Amino acid sequence: MCGIVGYIGSKDIETVLLVGLERLSYRGYDSAGIATIFKGELSSWKKPGKLHVLSSHLKNLTVKGTSGIGHTRWATHGEANEVNAHPHVSQRKKIAIVHNGIIENFLDIKKKLEREGHIFRSQTDTEVIVHLIERYYQDNLEEAVEKAVLDLKGTYAIAVITEKEPEKMVVTRKGSPLILGIGKDENYISSDINAIIPHTKDVIYLDDNEIGIIKRDSYQIKNKNGVIVTKDIEHITWDSEAVEKSGYDHFMLKEITEQPAVIRTIISKYVNEKGQIQFKDIRMPNSDLAEINRLIIQACGTSWHAGLIGKFLVEQTSRVLTEVDISSEFRYKQMISQGKEIVAAISQSGETADTIACIREAKSKFFKILSFVNVKGSTIDRESDGVIYSHSGREIGVASTKNFLAQLTTMYLFSIYFAQLRWMISEEKAAEMVAELKKVPEYIETILTKDAEIEKIAEKYHKSREFIFVGRGINFPSALEGALKLKEISYIHATGYPAGELKHGPIALIDDKLPVVCIATQSATYEKMVSNIQEIKARKGKIIVIATEGDESIKEVADDIIYVPNVSEELSPLLVAVPLQMLAYHIAVKLDCDVDQPRNLAKSVTVE
Ligand code: AGP
Repeated sequence: MCGIVGYIGSKDIETVLLVGLERLSYRGYDSAGIATIFKGELSSWKKPGKLHVLSSHLKNLTVKGTSGIGHTRWATHGEANEVNAHPHVSQRKKIAIVHNGIIENFLDIKKKLEREGHIFRSQTDTEVIVHLIERYYQDNLEEAVEKAVLDLKGTYAIAVITEKEPEKMVVTRKGSPLILGIGKDENYISSDINAIIPHTKDVIYLDDNEIGIIKRDSYQIKNKNGVIVTKDIEHITWDSEAVEKSGYDHFMLKEITEQPAVIRTIISKYVNEKGQIQFKDIRMPNSDLAEINRLIIQACGTSWHAGLIGKFLVEQTSRVLTEVDISSEFRYKQMISQGKEIVAAISQSGETADTIACIREAKSKFFKILSFVNVKGSTIDRESDGVIYSHSGREIGVASTKNFLAQLTTMYLFSIYFAQLRWMISEEKAAEMVAELKKVPEYIETILTKDAEIEKIAEKYHKSREFIFVGRGINFPSALEGALKLKEISYIHATGYPAGELKHGPIALIDDKLPVVCIATQSATYEKMVSNIQEIKARKGKIIVIATEGDESIKEVADDIIYVPNVSEELSPLLVAVPLQMLAYHIAVKLDCDVDQPRNLAKSVTVE
């Protein structure tokens, strides 16, 4: 997704903006640009490609400024070229804007402005905003912005500067994140806290329809009625070291290896010294939870896979009907309320547009919202009634790994907590389940020692044209997640199926060139899984099995085996995920893919 940075102060504007954009680069982008105001003159520079292309271009130029904005663009309307890159400037080139989001009615606005004589340079939706601002501008930038956004339909986070009022920057948002960083005689804005944190840990999260008028030594925030509002300044506690590779080749590898520590952190946050589960920040009374008879989970991508596994956990422990939906589908479905359900959103970033849209739609129908989210202060965090944080730390790799395990861990603990509220599980059983979870970090550390073994398997199969992943029960979603990890970082087509479904069509794909990753850890359906593996073997498929340590019989059917420690079925997805992440990682590295910033992808999909 697009990244936005802005600065007003006396530091070197080029460095502040480019370093800020670099810290947003993990989100994925295909062009970049900056605009500055120096001695009442607006200048802007932008280039397609990665940031180094822009910074090389600027090396031979003198970039000065007391205020400036910068942008990394993930193309939505118009290809990734110089003219479509941000910042965009108004007709008379006195106003510059950067934007994250999608303006759905931009063509109507564009036609209307063209009839008034405006000439557009790009194919973007963004450019219509800066032309609109110019159209409304008289002598006050915030007033012009307030008027312009009233004409917009869609989502936006924008930062605007004009040479006519060089001492100020105006920002506003609707559906896309925007954060103010409060400094000493300087101020920052960004779409992502990563760009602000090296300069200041005092931040303000702007809410939808609020407008910020920022100067170097002051700021003002107004609500949509133009009333000045006082917002809490939040002090961020974590350090920016989270966004360093710390010696690893890739953030993804660093984050895979951080998983044992993440699970230990979560347990320390949610399990007290007596072994009881407590969600102190949940902001939802137990009475609301205890009386519900249906849990509706909605999420995207990896978070959706976590939701599918969460379904198994919640239904197994608390016997509460749990539905799981992909956010972009759920939003347009009939949200039927029987009066005793809650909608749960699962999201690492807390800024996924489809998931946010579902929350808002569900709230409009009086559903209560419980969210499992990683980024504190994110839109989903702030707009939910209750929240359970993942505590996985900043996840930089676009392909989610440590946060996926954090989501599974928090879902596991929640399923026990929820069952206890409903008297569906004994104290002893709860203590037993928590005790087993405490062993998982060590089990994962054991799996991480198999890195060389997994790399050999990656070497053997990395040139395959496609993969199939199969699993049963709680590990069918694990198969989906394994397939997603591989395809999103190696660009090899991969599909996850329920193993029992193979014979209903997909088995036609099996030949002696097709690797099939089979999740065959100990479970109630293990024997059925082995039969499915036999079906694949009979058609000469290449069989890579994730099996439970000590399983000797699987050697008769597998071409390659990755063993994981023995653990209860409901915890097996936490172990199964790790070798699948490592397999995907090593295959992508062997194919020389951009592991941390795969093509076309963004870390937080803030557009629908
Ligand atoms: C997972 O590796 C992908 N990055 C993607 O599927 C992601 O899980 C999805 O976009 C949801 O993001 P969220 O968890 O931040 O809502």
